[in-house]
Amino acid sequence: MSQTLQAVRGMNDILPEEAEQWEEFEDMLRDWLRAYAYRPIRMPLVEPTPLFARAIGAATDIVEKEMYSFIDSLNGEELTLRPEGTAGCVRAVLQHNLLYDGPKRLCYLGPMFRHERPQKGRYRQFHQVGVEALGFAGPDIDAEQILMCQRLWDDLGLTDIRLEINSLGQVEERSRHRADLLAYFEERSELLDGDAKRRLHSNPLRILDSKNPAMQEMVEAAPKLIEYLGEESLAHFAGVQALLKDAGIPCRINPRLVRGLDYYNLTVFEWVTDRLGSQGTVCAGGRYDGLIAQLGGKPQPACGFALGIERLLALWREQGGAAPRIAPDVYVVHQGEQAYRFAFRVAEGLRDSGFAVQLHCGGGSFKAQMKRADASGAALAVIIGDIEAAANEVSLKPLRDESKQQRRVAFDQLAEAIGELLFD
Ligand code: HAM
Repeated sequence: MSQTLQAVRGMNDILPEEAEQWEEFEDMLRDWLRAYAYRPIRMPLVEPTPLFARAIGAATDIVEKEMYSFIDSLNGEELTLRPEGTAGCVRAVLQHNLLYDGPKRLCYLGPMFRHERPQKGRYRQFHQVGVEALGFAGPDIDAEQILMCQRLWDDLGLTDIRLEINSLGQVEERSRHRADLLAYFEERSELLDGDAKRRLHSNPLRILDSKNPAMQEMVEAAPKLIEYLGEESLAHFAGVQALLKDAGIPCRINPRLVRGLDYYNLTVFEWVTDRLGSQGTVCAGGRYDGLIAQLGGKPQPACGFALGIERLLALWREQGGAAPRIAPDVYVVHQGEQAYRFAFRVAEGLRDSGFAVQLHCGGGSFKAQMKRADASGAALAVIIGDIEAAANEVSLKPLRDESKQQRRVAFDQLAEAIGELLFD
């Protein structure tokens, strides 16, 4: 016997109960994005592979080992399922010349794909809300984006999320730091683990991210990027911090926060919680002033972040914020040939009046249909037999409130009667 097919490992079905929570959550997100004047953009899920190598960096974990890349068998093109949204968003902005009349605030929501080892909070298909402000030099926009996150946590009633920030300075500052860092690690190469040795020449900054306890002391004492920042970079960082202080948002400066994507400069930040185990970063981003030019555009500064929807929803659920199940207002049951035809008219008529209606389909006894009506969660049942249908009437039965009686109602007064029961 053949086995039932399963979803790809690390790619989840989101079943109705949970999908309803997602929709409720996405509605809140859309209001939140509108409140900060971010406009939606929708990019393809598949992009040319070289886009990601150029934008994210050839020596990053994402590009080296996590991308779902394939050759289009029809034309030989190298394609990749997007591992993140910033690269595609900037590509779209340049392709359509969206910055021709000034800076833009853009946002997107959708699935991303990374071939990581799946575990709680880490999936191979996951979802992000991305927020990108293009053409802004900051530090005002950097700070506003962080404030924006804090507002969302407040709206969702989330506590226990802390902010970590750092400044990565500019390319020249980083390359001086990188040279010293390389020399520092080379002098101590016998203390490096395999991963660090592999990264030494491709991406020594990532060694600072190592969680290996045996390397902590050495990593702690390594040259710190902040000591290499010039006056302008320091002023930008101070500007962000001053605005955060004004807004009363506490933050920890984490000199080891380097991010896993190469396009960042100056401000980088992460929002982290301890409540989700090892995958506690719910939101991350920063400034990427070089990316637009790197992808072939006129140089323009930019700043953005993305939040992981699965992680945020898990936290929301954990803190008691899950949305209630969305049930129909009315369940229509019917018995008899004439009633069956009339039930369609009644259901459509109620939908015309704005009610959510579940029409019983598939026949069965009245009793069996009433059981379904009850299980649907609907507040009311509309019951139709041939006698009611002949009189252009229905029986209206409240299902959740025992103090209210079943009664006959004429079809043309039904919407009003339902409105009174539901809203009075
Ligand atoms: P990122 O740090 O790679 O940044 O991802 C942002 C967030 O997506 C993470 O903090 C996490 O919540 C979520 N996330 C990442 N990977 C996974 C996964 N495998 N499973 C579940 N959730 C995950 C970016 O992607 C940048 N594009 C953010 C950005 C936008 N920077 C500037 N603009």
